[in-house]
Amino acid sequence: MSKSVKPYKDSELDKKEQVTKMFDTISEEYDGLNRVISFGIDVKWRNKVVQIISDTSPENILDIATGTGDLAISLTKTSAKEIIGLDISDGMLEVGRQKIKAKELDGIIQMVIGDSEDLPFEDNTFDAITVAFGVRNFMNLEKGLSEILRVLKPNGIFVILETSIPTKTPYKQGYKLYSKFILPTIGKVFSKDRSAYKYLSESASVFPFGEELNNILRQIGFINVKDKPQTFGVATIYTASKA
Ligand SMILES: C[S@@+](CC[C@H](N)C(=O)[O-])C[C@H]1O[C@@H](n2cnc3c(N)ncnc32)[C@H](O)[C@@H]1O
Repeated sequence: MSKSVKPYKDSELDKKEQVTKMFDTISEEYDGLNRVISFGIDVKWRNKVVQIISDTSPENILDIATGTGDLAISLTKTSAKEIIGLDISDGMLEVGRQKIKAKELDGIIQMVIGDSEDLPFEDNTFDAITVAFGVRNFMNLEKGLSEILRVLKPNGIFVILETSIPTKTPYKQGYKLYSKFILPTIGKVFSKDRSAYKYLSESASVFPFGEELNNILRQIGFINVKDKPQTFGVATIYTASKA
C-alpha cells in the first residue's frame, strides 16, 4: 500500500476528511492555479483521455473525483448521453455546476456528491469510468479501485490520469526542483491554503506509478492494464478493462 500523506499535519481528522476540507477551501481558486502549475499542459492530457474514451463509443460515463468538472465537460465530446461527475467535496462540485450551467450542459452532466470508496451505483452500471488527478487522494486506494471495478460494465473501459515522476535525467532533477520548491512557493503566494500545494506535491512524490500502479490494478482484477507516460513522465494515463 502507498505511504499515506495528509494535507494537515496537526489535524485529528482522517485523510478523507482532510482532503474534503482542503478541496472545499481551494475550490474557487482551483481552476486558475491548476493551469498555472501545469503550464496549461493538463488540458492536453485531459483531451487524450477524451480521445481514448471516445474510441470506445460509450453511452454513459462516470467521472470520479470530478472536482470542478473539467474532464466531465470535455467528455461531452464523446458519444455519451449521460455523464455523472462524482466528488466528495461539495465546494468543488458547486464550482463545476456553475460552469456546466453556463455551458448549458446540465442536460448531459449530473454532478453528484459521493465517496469513491463507497459508490452509490449498482454493479455493472457504466461503459466508461475516468479519474483525473483523483486516485492519489483516496484514503484507501484499493477500496476505491475495487468499487470502480464493481460499477464498471464487463468490457467497459477505465482510464486514470495521474501525476507520476520522470525517471530519466535531466527531467528527474528538473521535476524534483519543481515539486520541492516551485510548486509549494506558488501555493504559498497564491493560495488561500498554504498546506494544500505542499500536500499536492508530497502526495505525488510517494504515490505508486507506472508498473507499480499497473500491478495494483491487476491485483484488484482489472485486465488489459497499460500505462502511457506523458510529457517526460510528469503524468501518466493508465487504461484498463473488466473481464
Ligand atoms: C486534484 S482534484 C482533481 C479534480 C479533477 N478531476 C481535475 O482533473 O481537475 C482531486 C479531487 O478528488 C476529490 N476526491 C478526493 N477523495 C475523494 C473520494 N474519496 N471520493 C470522491 N472524490 C474524492 C477531491 O475532492 C478533489 O475534487
